[in-house]
Amino acid sequence: MQEIIDELEKRRAQARLGGGGKRIDAQHGKGKLTARERIEVLLDPGSFEEWDMFVEHRCADFDMDQAHIPGDGVVTGYGTINGRLVFVFSQDFTVFGGALSEAHAEKICKAMDQAMKVGAPVIGLNDSGGARIQEGVASLGGYAEVFQRNVMASGVVPQISMIMGPCAGGAVYSPAMTDFIFMVKDSSYMFVTGPEVVKTVTHESVTAEELGGAVTHSARSGVADLAFENDVEALLMLRRFFNYIPANNREKPPHRPTQDSADRADFSLDTLVPGNPNLPYDIKEAIVKVVDDAEFFELQPDYAANIVIGFGRMDGNVVGFVANQPLVLAGCLDIKSSIKAARFVRFCDAFNIPVVTFVDVPGFMPGTAQEYGGIIKHGAKLLYAFAECTAPKVTVITRKAYGGAYDVMSSKHLRGDVNLAWPHAEIAVMGAKGAVEIIFREDKNDPAKLAAREAEYKARFANPFIAGARGFIDDVILPHETRQRICRSLAMLKDKKLENPWRKHGNIPL
Ligand code: HXC
Repeated sequence: MQEIIDELEKRRAQARLGGGGKRIDAQHGKGKLTARERIEVLLDPGSFEEWDMFVEHRCADFDMDQAHIPGDGVVTGYGTINGRLVFVFSQDFTVFGGALSEAHAEKICKAMDQAMKVGAPVIGLNDSGGARIQEGVASLGGYAEVFQRNVMASGVVPQISMIMGPCAGGAVYSPAMTDFIFMVKDSSYMFVTGPEVVKTVTHESVTAEELGGAVTHSARSGVADLAFENDVEALLMLRRFFNYIPANNREKPPHRPTQDSADRADFSLDTLVPGNPNLPYDIKEAIVKVVDDAEFFELQPDYAANIVIGFGRMDGNVVGFVANQPLVLAGCLDIKSSIKAARFVRFCDAFNIPVVTFVDVPGFMPGTAQEYGGIIKHGAKLLYAFAECTAPKVTVITRKAYGGAYDVMSSKHLRGDVNLAWPHAEIAVMGAKGAVEIIFREDKNDPAKLAAREAEYKARFANPFIAGARGFIDDVILPHETRQRICRSLAMLKDKKLENPWRKHGNIPL
């Protein structure tokens, strides 16, 4: 018996060593943790149950039959984060550069299949040189098996990708199909084709970091949701983030009791919106002041900052916040912000997380860049996302709600459950100045007359009462009551049931 135990221990030790001490040192030298160290930081201590530690590749080409490393470049299994079940795969760059073989893919697929069966989220820690070059098409098949599972799991269990090293070529498409992508600064990158290919094809000189680093994707392309300073910060933040997401599409995210009273009034909100409608203010201040314990987990803060998205809790329950940001581009909706918010609303809806929307939007961004870029189709994504959303929806119009953007931003007409407005809300087709310039064009050379018309238009339309008279908003509230009113609305909506008509799937404007 002892012999068998010794053999087991020997095999385990060999698997834990991955690609060996030298390669582990090299990994540390790059400021990166190993695949197993990452799992240790991510999961609750002692909770990890590893699977397939002894799996090996089956390739014999290019002397690969001489190179077998148990585990084959990916550590898989399950464990808990703050006591909640999660499946994990962590690619081991010390083993063939974390490259994906057929066996490596099978391990990931096995974990994903089991996660689907038990309704648990999947977290992938990506650090890989891509397809295992020695295996050729077998490796490509492996990728496609993972892709197919990503799609089947979408909207059923949450999927999160943490990019912690290279992720290039077609390999990027697995993370791309997961719900959230996080990256580590200076050590991770994602691109479809690397700098050398770019140089050959387009003659552009660009570094890997510029082309697909964490800053590029979190601030420029919008591919990544957040960028972290190093592996440890990234994994600890991922643990925090995990507290906001449910196990699957039939369960609620964890409730966290709070000392922050649902009735708490914040009188500073009464002076948040400046008297002059052309002056900006920070909508994040409103979110932070209404949310439990001032804790707001923002996503994509550096991308399309004219719209704010993220999670928080109201009276202990997770909600998704969507808010126009008057500080950036006056809070206009444009292509990037529409796509950013639409995808977030769809995540919330898929997992039945209530959406709280703060509206201060002067309209869609004008210009050839937007029109040529397809703002019609991209803006429609956000409209579609809010309209199809059956999760509870509470909307607060803090100031401007103009034109089509009024309709889009979770209006009553798109089945908003509770739509509230602050007293200085302006719900209108457009701003008073623009409106009178069009309808009183004949007065354009008479500034005094035009100013009088503008004042008249403002008095008549730049308020919440016309919409209120039609029931398009349910109430006009004082800003300091906002937390209480949202909490009460969400409590009322706790058991909301609404279903869209049966169909194979809708056809969101892609
Ligand atoms: C097999 C690989 C590998 C791969 C790296 N290695 N990538 N082995 N298949 N794809 C091995 C290296 O041979 C090396 O082995 C070890 O991993 C570490 O690699 P280094 O090059 O020494 O590391 P580094 O300098 O940090 O560079 C990392 C790298 C580079 C940038 C990822 O290795 C690289 O460019 N690799 C090839 C990337 C690539 O072209 N992949 C295929 C993309 S196409 P030793 O034994 O020396 O330690 C693709 C298609 C997916 O992925 C399609 C899905 C549909």
